[in-house]
This record gives sequence, C-alpha cells and structure tokens, in this order.
Amino acid sequence: MRLSAEQLAAFDRDGYLFLPGLFSATEIDVLDAEVPGILAQERQEVVREKGTDAPRSAFHVQTWNEAFGLLSRHPRLLEPGMQILDSSELYMHQFKINAKEAFDGAVWQWHQDYATWWNDDEMPAPNAMNIALFLVEANEFNGPLMFIPGSHKGGRLEAGHDVTTTSYPLWTIDNPTITRLVEEGGIAAPKGPAGSVLLFHGNIVHASGSNLSPWSRWIVYLSLNRCDNAIRRFKRPGWIANRDFTPLVPEADDCLMRYAERRKTAAE
Ligand code: SIN
Ligand code: MN
Repeated sequence: MRLSAEQLAAFDRDGYLFLPGLFSATEIDVLDAEVPGILAQERQEVVREKGTDAPRSAFHVQTWNEAFGLLSRHPRLLEPGMQILDSSELYMHQFKINAKEAFDGAVWQWHQDYATWWNDDEMPAPNAMNIALFLVEANEFNGPLMFIPGSHKGGRLEAGHDVTTTSYPLWTIDNPTITRLVEEGGIAAPKGPAGSVLLFHGNIVHASGSNLSPWSRWIVYLSLNRCDNAIRRFKRPGWIANRDFTPLVPEADDCLMRYAERRKTAAE
C-alpha cells in the first residue's frame, strides 16, 4: 500500500494521518475474537489499571498471539511506516493493545512518545512512529486519542517523569506548555469505525481522557523504529522496549483472512 503525495504532506504538516476503515469488518472480527482471551491472561505483559482489575495494556502480544503476530507484519501498516520513515528496514520497538475499558479506562497524560524513547531507551533520533488500528469504534465518549496538530515540529520538549497518575510511568508535559501549544495548533480527536488506522509522529503531543462510557475503546499500537536507530539502553524490560532489532518482513495482504480459514478448517 502506498500513501499519496497529499497524504505524506498532511502527515508532515499535522504530525498524524487518519485512514478511516482501512481494515474490513471481517478482518477486525478475526482480531476482536482474540482480545477478551488476551486481556484475561494473568501475565506480566498484561498491565492493569491503578486500583482496579481492569486491563490497561497488553504488551508484546505479537510474540504470544498468532493473529496479532500477523498484524504486526501487516503490509497495510508496515508499508506506510516504511514510506514515512524512509526505510525498508523497520523493527518493532513496542507493540501493545490499549483496552481503555468501559467505565474503568483511565487517562493517558499529555506526552510525546519520543520523550520516553529518548529518556528511558536512549533511542538516538525521532526516526520512529506509531501506527494505531481501532479494534472497535472510537467516538467522543470512550476516550479517543487527542492530538495537538503540528506539535511535532518543535522537536522533543521538556518532560517530567509521572509515576503516580496511572499504573504506567510516562514522561509528561506540563500544563502551561500544553496551553501554549493548543493556542497555536488546537486539538484534534480523530474518531471513526473499527478498522480505522491512525499514523502519528514520535514527537506529536497527544493524550486521551478517561472512559466513562459503556463502550470499551480497544486500540492496537505498533511503534515502528528504523533498524539503524535501535535503542542503546536496556532499562525497561524487553516486552516494553523490544531488544530484537530484526527487520520486519511484510505478510500477504490477505493474511488475516487466511488465518481465519486455517482456524476454521482445523476446527472442522
Ligand atoms: C499512548 O499514548 O501511548 C496511548 C494513548 C491511548 O491509548 O489513549
Ligand atoms: Mn503515546
């Protein structure tokens, strides 16, 4: 899959690009069928919300679930990443499902991902990005991602390490800085059906609110990095900041449907 010149220009200008409905409802059904079982697992990779049993994030799922393993190499995600990062050699720096469960899903404070990748992982340059796939609809009620358009242009900003607000430590940006950036760029919250894809820059400032709605907001994130930009510090566990820098090889475009057919045949 190739992004057009207009799409690449929009990504460069805004720091994100929204592709509604890129995956079909049938493909999403294949992935969604796996999610309850993944989130129910008692293992270190499944992090719970602070003070509740509700799952917050399931990390490194591509190594312990076959369908999400295929998704981690899906050409509709990898090829736009290769185009934007200008390299055919990308590896998975982090892979996670953020559940943001109905009623219990807590905030993600304002931050840039590259602040964490730099401060914790010593990633040399912001030559890494996120690709998010909505596994369910994201709407204005279930805590959609919020971006400050254009905020990636200012490079890495001053950040403090917040280890108390949620169960997951994050390098966050202070309120006066957010106020200034929002005066310049506003706030955008791309919303859309399951199957929509959001590409965003490692330096774009983003956040999301809590989920008070009765609808969970499952999103899966690929954090792709150039192989020539691999991290140099191994402070965080490998299932949070991956230490396998092998280039990802794209699967066939119909890999999820073929997986579903294999499963069906095996069950018969
Ligand atoms: C993130 O910024 O890493 C996650 C935000 C979210 O899932 O809302
Ligand atoms: Mn983030």
